[in-house]
Amino acid sequence: MFNKRVKIKELLATEATGQEVIVMGWVRTFRNNQFIALNDGSTNNNIQIVVELGLLDEATLKRITTSASLKIVGQLIASQGKGQKVEVKATAVEVLGDSDAEKYPLQPKKHSLEFLREIAHLRFRTNTFGAVFRLRHSLAYAVHKFYHEKGFVYMHTPIITASDAEGAGEMFRVTTLDLAKQLPTNDDGSINYKEDFFGRSTNLTVSGQLEGELAATAFSEIYTFGPTFRAENSNTARHLAEFWMIEPEMAFYDLEDNMNLAEEFIKYLIRFAMENNREDLEFLAQRLVEEEKQLPQDKRSELGLIEKLEFVLNNNFERITYTEAIDILLNSPAYKKKKFQYEVKWGVDMQSEHERYLVEKHFKKPVIVTNYPKDIKSFYMRQNDDGKTVAAMDILAPGIGEIVGGSQREERLDLLTKRMEELNIPVEEMWWFLDTRRYGTVPHAGFGLGFERMVLFVTGMTNIRDVIAFPRTPKSAEF
Ligand code: 4AD
Ligand code: MG
Repeated sequence: MFNKRVKIKELLATEATGQEVIVMGWVRTFRNNQFIALNDGSTNNNIQIVVELGLLDEATLKRITTSASLKIVGQLIASQGKGQKVEVKATAVEVLGDSDAEKYPLQPKKHSLEFLREIAHLRFRTNTFGAVFRLRHSLAYAVHKFYHEKGFVYMHTPIITASDAEGAGEMFRVTTLDLAKQLPTNDDGSINYKEDFFGRSTNLTVSGQLEGELAATAFSEIYTFGPTFRAENSNTARHLAEFWMIEPEMAFYDLEDNMNLAEEFIKYLIRFAMENNREDLEFLAQRLVEEEKQLPQDKRSELGLIEKLEFVLNNNFERITYTEAIDILLNSPAYKKKKFQYEVKWGVDMQSEHERYLVEKHFKKPVIVTNYPKDIKSFYMRQNDDGKTVAAMDILAPGIGEIVGGSQREERLDLLTKRMEELNIPVEEMWWFLDTRRYGTVPHAGFGLGFERMVLFVTGMTNIRDVIAFPRTPKSAEF
């Protein structure tokens, strides 16, 4: 019976009175044939196991190697050594699983994040990934807690769809047609999807928003939280081909209500992590300091990780229009000194260098940019009276860039249909989406928060591949 074991996190917070305890975990280090540092993933802190001389024979001692798994029975006593309050004086040690020390890839030394990506199946056993993935868990839990407490309904929107929610064409195809054989074709040579599994062309979803809108026009307020897929060939530290997104959708909301909810949501997640994962955050804050020591002074963060999070909690996000953002960029010293690689003028999609300038140099805090030109945004966004812009909002975060994308939705059937036609979006196939505008249409709004980008922000990690367990990126789908 294994269930009597106590997790190490709990053990470390227990008053030691010599009581018998059972603890299990993996060996981090073994010193002097006497001191085992054991870890079970409940915390980065190890419990020290003291093996008195003579307790184990030579053969068993040899099996206590890095990452071997052990069951220890012993007494919890106050520790003599420094660095820990309690330790376990072993009375029995059982090796549950051996680990060949010569071959084990994770030696007890510092490894680069790049190397750890190549052994992503083992990297959870390091302190950095222990902290990151416990935080990721906490944030996911907090997402549900936040919306549940507000009375939102959690919708599980489909992963396989026949539509392109963003209209950007960056979709992974889903098919059971045999690609090694001659594909069935129509008279005009195009592929005949009637022969395919669903009898039509299907893909992995890029967003749950459209189905979310259907639900919001019945439940008033819903959210989705699921995996989404983008076949965009962006090999950057901010893009994944498979990422998780939270998409709330609210009836009777305008753009301002939408911004208020998004800001409250982000702050709630940060506060939840600060209150529940302090130890892991402190570890990651220290990790960041160490990592940045290699950088020149002007490239280092002005604030430590925890100070940065506190700063975000204690200040309002800046709110500006796209037009104001472009003006700031055009008047910036960076623009005048030709420091931007990409063009700046009204109408262009801001590049990461522009977003980062606004957030990191100009405002030095999160910024919500609204009312973008309609030609660089999706078909479903509500058209403003100026005929040029839509009621969009993006939230830009320091060190990350875009973390949220959202908008008030076009609820007027005639304007929406006209826009879809202009953008060659198949109006007929989207009959179900347009029905929401036919039967009791309402002003409504929503947004999408990229979950990994949020985890990046809270953990201070810099590459998105290090905050999702098994990243999928162009030319990479190992594990
Ligand atoms: O701005 P996006 O494309 O918006 C939507 O998908 C809307 N349907 C959301 C809505 O209004 N319901 O994506 C939303 C967010 C981005 O701001 C970003 O944080 C994240 O999703 N994101 C990605 N994260 C990782 N890898 C990628 N390739 C991402 N693409 C978008
Ligand atoms: Mg976007």
